[in-house]
Amino acid sequence: MNKPRILTVGSANIDLMARITKFPSVGQTVKEKSGYEYKPGGKGANAAYAVHRMGGESIFCAKLGNDTHGARLNSIYANSGMDTRFISQCSHERTGLAMVMVEPNGNNRIVVYPGANEYLGRGDVENAVLCYPDAILLGFEIPVETVIATAEFAKELDIPLIVDAGPAEKNFPLEYLGKVEVFSPNETETYIYTGIKPDTTDKCLKACMALLNRVDAKVIVLKLGSKGCYVFDGTYFYVMPAYSVDVQDTTAAGDVFTAAFAVEYMRNGKNFKRAAAYANMAGALCVTKDGAFESVPSHSDICDFVLKNEINYQL
Ligand code: ATP
Ligand code: RIB
Repeated sequence: MNKPRILTVGSANIDLMARITKFPSVGQTVKEKSGYEYKPGGKGANAAYAVHRMGGESIFCAKLGNDTHGARLNSIYANSGMDTRFISQCSHERTGLAMVMVEPNGNNRIVVYPGANEYLGRGDVENAVLCYPDAILLGFEIPVETVIATAEFAKELDIPLIVDAGPAEKNFPLEYLGKVEVFSPNETETYIYTGIKPDTTDKCLKACMALLNRVDAKVIVLKLGSKGCYVFDGTYFYVMPAYSVDVQDTTAAGDVFTAAFAVEYMRNGKNFKRAAAYANMAGALCVTKDGAFESVPSHSDICDFVLKNEINYQL
């Protein structure tokens, strides 16, 4: 099997994960009995690990803090199978932390304190791109200047750029990304960038058109949670419903989806329909498990899923 070499430029966080029964109202304190845990996460780390688990050669470029969380993440990454040469430490900032609250239906609400991620800079990426990847997978949980610099390097070296467009900010300068191979926001991000809620096929198409006015993308892939995904190549669109699974925790589904898409897209001659079907399965498997980094499925999990559910997908 072809093993695409993918450089992920993105965030690394420690996730403080807690299951909550109901959100407290203003001024209210609620007691929860289900406990909490510190687990590996961060949109970049989840995606980079997913690249490795899906069968790609994964190189991760990120910044950790000089603290116990950073040391713990470093050792997790060192044993993960990813190329960690471009993960560095910031001496004066703590590791990024995300407070992840998961509701009984598996949905989450996340607050991120970027910490050391804010110090991932142009120079870090400049070193990492010298590994000459087949594609760059880029997320927005790092400084905007670093996002733009990464896009510039991708253009200079003619490396396909796959963008996971979250987290979103209304005024994010999408226009500066230049040429993008695949641009993939989730529903909330799509709404923030375009003002259009992608809740019908018609509105998905309108949202894609609006995105194409701002981003020079070859393919737009909207991640639609339990509704699956919507793919638009500038001419035709494809609606791909989600697979039916028992949902435990949706955290990292989007990261896993885009990473899986990137690997399969690069592995199979940029066949985006096949990549979207593969990514839909990866996302579905991710939501059946608790956690972020720890819920990333492997290529072999996907193969089992195809066989078990008799899915029409050529392995
Ligand atoms: P997160 O922020 O929680 O990481 P996201 O909001 O970026 O996720 P989603 O659109 O929720 O991304 O999910 C990504 C993909 O995962 C979906 O496009 C779909 O393929 C799959 N997925 C998500 N939720 C479900 C679900 N409930 N059932 C089946 N598949 C799902
Ligand atoms: O997409 C999920 C991730 O978002 C979590 O792991 C958390 O760290 C935040 O970055």
